[in-house]
Parts: sequence; C-alpha cells; structure tokens
Amino acid sequence: MFPLQRNRRLRTNEALRSLVRETIVTPNDFQAPLFIVEGENKKEEIASMPGYFRYSLDLLKAEVKELWSLGIKSVLLFVKVEENLKDNKGSEAVNAEGLMQRAIKTVKDTVPEMIVMTDVALDPYSIYGHDGIIENGKVLNDESVEALAKMALSHAQAGADFVAPSDMMDGRILAMRQLLESEGFINTGIMSYSAKYASAFYGPFRDALDSAPVDAQDIPKDKKTYQMDPANREEAIKETLMDIEEGADIVMVKPGLCYLDIVRDIKNAVDVPVAVYQVSGEYAMIKAAAEKGWLDHDAVVLEQLTAIKRAGADFVSTYFAKYAAKLLS
Ligand code: PBG
Repeated sequence: MFPLQRNRRLRTNEALRSLVRETIVTPNDFQAPLFIVEGENKKEEIASMPGYFRYSLDLLKAEVKELWSLGIKSVLLFVKVEENLKDNKGSEAVNAEGLMQRAIKTVKDTVPEMIVMTDVALDPYSIYGHDGIIENGKVLNDESVEALAKMALSHAQAGADFVAPSDMMDGRILAMRQLLESEGFINTGIMSYSAKYASAFYGPFRDALDSAPVDAQDIPKDKKTYQMDPANREEAIKETLMDIEEGADIVMVKPGLCYLDIVRDIKNAVDVPVAVYQVSGEYAMIKAAAEKGWLDHDAVVLEQLTAIKRAGADFVSTYFAKYAAKLLS
C-alpha cells in the first residue's frame, strides 16, 4: 500500500534497474537467418530488407565467422534456387550437390561449432511457389510430406545439426523423425515451425528468395490451406503439442510481435525450447520507419527483442541478430 510501496524506488537509476531486471537479452539468444545465392563474390542487398543480403558461398564464410565472433551460436539457412532448377516436386531439394547441401558444408567447414539449421519446405524449389506439391489446384499433403522427409534427410547427410520444417503439412515431423532414425541420424534435431501463421508479414522474404506463390490459374494465391489462421489461438497449442508428440525437439512461433500471446501460451504449455521468428516484414517495418526518422531504430530493435524473450522465447530467429549483437557488445 502507498506510501509503504513506492514502485518508483526500484527505478531510481540504471544500476538499480539492471539489478532487478527480469529479462536480459544476449547474443546467445539470437539465431541468424542467412540467404544464400549461387555464384561467386555476390553480396546482394534485398530491396525490401535494407541492410540485409544474399551471399554466395565464398562470401558466406566471412559472414559466419563474424557471427560466431559476436556470440551468435546458430544460423538458419535459406537458398535462392535458380529458376531452371525449379519444378512442381522440388526435385532439386534432394540434390546432394545442391546449393543448400553445399551451404551446410561451407558453414560447418568454416565454423564447426556453429549450429546449422536448415529450412525444409518446397517453396524455393517449386515453380508454383508453394511449400508442397500441387495437383488439380490443391497442395497435396501426404505426397508433400514424403518429399519433405527426403529433403530433411538430405540436409542431415550434408551435415545439418537441425532441420527446420516450415511447411505446415500434417504429419511431417513424424515422417522426418522416422526417416532420420532409420537412416542413423539419431542426433539430428528437428525444430518445427509448429505455430506458423498465414501472415502478410512474409512479403520481403519472398522477394529475397523469389519464392512467392505464382499468379496463375489453378494455383492457390495464398498459403491459407496449410498455414494457420491469424485469428486462432487454441489451435496453436494443438499444433504444437502434436509436433512434440511426433518428435520435435524445438518448437517455433512465427511471426513474432503480433503473436506474443501465442508465445506465452505455448511457453506455459510445453516443456521443450520455444523459438520465435521475428520475420522479414517485422524487419522491414522497423527499417522503413527508422529511415523516415519516425522511430529510434536501435531502441526499437532492442525493445522488440526483449519483448519477444519476455513473452517466452528461448531464442529468437532474427534479421537483427548481427546488428543487435554489436549493439549489446
Ligand atoms: C518457407 C518460409 C517462409 C518464411 C520462412 N520459411 C515463407 C513462407 O512461408 O511463405 C518466412 C520468413 C520471413 O518472412 O522472414 N516456407
């Protein structure tokens, strides 16, 4: 009761505030997504993600070393696939000499301790820009799951520590776990994008990989038949618990900021680590507002990362990983 309790006492100065602070963000909390492109000496800025780049494998090495030196312990790999390698079934995804498979080896050869996770979904490989195989205007589930499990195995064979299925097909975690086990990859982990919403915040990412659903007859215009409805909360827990039962080691909520209620629900409901993906559109919004001088860029970046961790994230996949790690050092 006031004045016995004066809450401002604990806020008197920074030393005291830091003493009683509940959430501390460090570079160990960040996972850096990396976009990789074929070729040499390429560092291409993504138009809708100012300050973020696609790297060719030769330049990837320095980037990975720098991330490690800043305290970042994990990367999440994505590849931009050449147009002529795309088809409906994502056949290129299991090429042992494909860009992803070479990227995994490159990172592991450069910094062996770096935890390498790989995106598993067909969209970068699909002529239609969908996460699964299409037939008669529909994204097939079980056929896609089979292709995705083989893709995950191929990443494991190339040396990935974790595979990260982002496709939202039903049953894919079980199929992957079983295939990995039967092939001897008993320690390859699965980070499931378990509560992944059909969000409008993925736009810049699809620019980065040229992977948006194509505008054509009989091709679904969006991903709403497999990604979750942003209006749903209970369903996120159901999805996540099922993925854990199927063998997920880490679960993920995506996007971040608009979904922090889901992060907390899931943190309270599960006993595995919870990752949160602060997605491309969240990055782009901050950049755009800061460019206009309307927001304090650095303060907003740290506030959002702190809020995501406070909500329950054990770590955050974020395009600010390197930048924020530098801010904190
Ligand atoms: C691929 C995938 C997407 C993202 C991560 N993996 C795009 C999508 O589902 O359409 C989005 C990440 C971001 O926006 O930063 N399935």
